[in-house]
Amino acid sequence: MKLGVNIDHVATLRQARYAGDETTAVVPEPSVLQAARAALEGGADSITVHVREDRRHMQDADAREIHRDIPLPLNLEMGATETMLEFAVGLRPDYICLVPERRREVTTEGGLDVQGSREQMQRLVEQLTQAGCRVSMFIDPELEQVEASAAAGAPMVELHTGRFANTEGAQHKRELQRLVQAAARAHKLGLEVHAGHGIRIAHLPELAQVPHLTELNIGHTIISRAIFVGLTAAVREMKEAMQRIRWEI
Ligand code: PXP
Repeated sequence: MKLGVNIDHVATLRQARYAGDETTAVVPEPSVLQAARAALEGGADSITVHVREDRRHMQDADAREIHRDIPLPLNLEMGATETMLEFAVGLRPDYICLVPERRREVTTEGGLDVQGSREQMQRLVEQLTQAGCRVSMFIDPELEQVEASAAAGAPMVELHTGRFANTEGAQHKRELQRLVQAAARAHKLGLEVHAGHGIRIAHLPELAQVPHLTELNIGHTIISRAIFVGLTAAVREMKEAMQRIRWEI
């Protein structure tokens, strides 16, 4: 099981102090490049950055520097817009994850409506694929969205685990079953299956029931843990916890 480490919140911390301050003589900290190196050392298999339309955390230059200097695949999360398409084609990251973006949301809420915008998605997938990127659709674990992602030509889906992660009891169990079913359908349609959002170490034993998962994308809990143990150790803890699990393949 691969671990993609999302380091957006290292940039969140930097922006909390330095956003819009062009006059400072200080090199803004913390450095996202240093964070990416620490994640690499801890065993990350790829680095994820979400360059949001409002540039609230990662900036264009961050993605460029990480892609240039860090010997790991770069996964760029981006909204499905023309301006982001232009940026991505210029950057040519290894992977692209298309996500829905609403300006006022705190984090990515809900998955992409691939079914409702199939032609637009198909065109984006085509153009990004031509630019050499492998594209994944960040979708809720719904069969229609899985099917629409395959129809749009994407080779991968990332199943949104937010509801699973943020519920308890019967609803949590239902959400796990939705993930199981969506993953099974995605695999049947030939899609590579990833999962992400809100995942913590405690969720791993249950996620082991989701078949055909090949990658987890994890950010917030790793960065939170890093405050106390450092980023390399926090990534290593997650990676080792994932290695202790017997994944359903
Ligand atoms: N995957 C996607 C598509 C996301 O948008 C996010 C959050 O930015 C994550 C994974 C990681 O979620 P978390 O930070 O909750 O681990």
